[in-house]
Amino acid sequence: MPSQLSSIYNLHTPALMLDWPTAQRNINRAAQFVQDKQVRLRPHFKNHKRVPLARKQLAVGGCVGMTAATVVEAISLVDGGIKDVLIANQIVGAADISRFAELAVRANVRVAIDDFENVRAIARAARNRGIEIGVLIEVDIGMGRCGVAPGNAAVELAGQISSLAGIRLDGLQAYEGHATGILDPDERETVATASIEKAIYTKRQLEAAEHECRILSCGSTGTYRSTGSLEGVTELQVGSYVTMDWCYKEKVRDQFDIALTVLARVVSVRQDHFVINAGCKAIGHEFGPPRLRDYAEAEIPGFASEEHTVVHFPGHKLHIGDLVHVVPSHCCMTCALHRDMVVYEGERILEIWQANIGYGLP
Ligand SMILES: Cc1ncc(COP(=O)(O)O)c(C=O)c1O
Repeated sequence: MPSQLSSIYNLHTPALMLDWPTAQRNINRAAQFVQDKQVRLRPHFKNHKRVPLARKQLAVGGCVGMTAATVVEAISLVDGGIKDVLIANQIVGAADISRFAELAVRANVRVAIDDFENVRAIARAARNRGIEIGVLIEVDIGMGRCGVAPGNAAVELAGQISSLAGIRLDGLQAYEGHATGILDPDERETVATASIEKAIYTKRQLEAAEHECRILSCGSTGTYRSTGSLEGVTELQVGSYVTMDWCYKEKVRDQFDIALTVLARVVSVRQDHFVINAGCKAIGHEFGPPRLRDYAEAEIPGFASEEHTVVHFPGHKLHIGDLVHVVPSHCCMTCALHRDMVVYEGERILEIWQANIGYGLP
């Protein structure tokens, strides 16, 4: 790292920042949760997309591997030496299946499926390479996104898969994404538990029909406690818990703390407001406008400019050039907007971790 970059005060802005002591504490807390349980963690890489951070997550123990959202994320992980990856989404189309199958030649990379023709295409790609690919049937337990219906539909698909050479059914994936955003903790737990029970029921049905179901992969930062306490769930795909954002903090207050901010500079000052040099190209905001970490009185009512944010704060004492830490409403989107993540403690920069961001051709 260049020596002029040893302090956060010398950084170019806007910059994606990870407060390392807080992130490490979050990582430890999740590991502690599974310590005395059968369930393991499979942290979701889509949260931060940084391989060194994935290594830190795996280093504390309690993890079976990483979850990825895309083939590109899985390639980053495998290239970085992480050899057990679940792509928790469908991979469809000859080009993407071929890229995925190439990866499966050199690592244990599984994928979620919910369609027989898609599995047939994956099986062909596996046979062409002389390998077997592990798949998890995705069950839609209420989110209404991907997945077959719980129960018979999953058993039927398992029956079709069993005749396919090149494919190995390892179990089920069921993401309770419709529960994770519920603010009230009791209601969130009730909805999550009722949903995951549909997946557990499906697992029992598969086993009764003598299909393999050693994995049941579920969970999120908002639901890991209830989902991870249910018998039958084998792994938790928690993502945002490491970095956190203000939206998740309102839901899991006492469990994880906000480690992620965007560092921005004050570039214009008036009496009742000031403007910082970070807008929606630097700060993920699907769940609402960002907030300032160190100024609870500051308000950001509108959030639309690409490179600016206007902060309403009558009586503020900020000056042009001052630095502020901005807390996004959505950490995963924010991490995907930046190549560099500055890892720091106090004022000291410890490391800079880069991500393979954006979509691109191989
Ligand atoms: C398939 C899947 N699993 C798990 C998660 C949980 O991630 P988080 O803990 O960040 O809510 C997500 C979130 O988008 C997801 O899409």
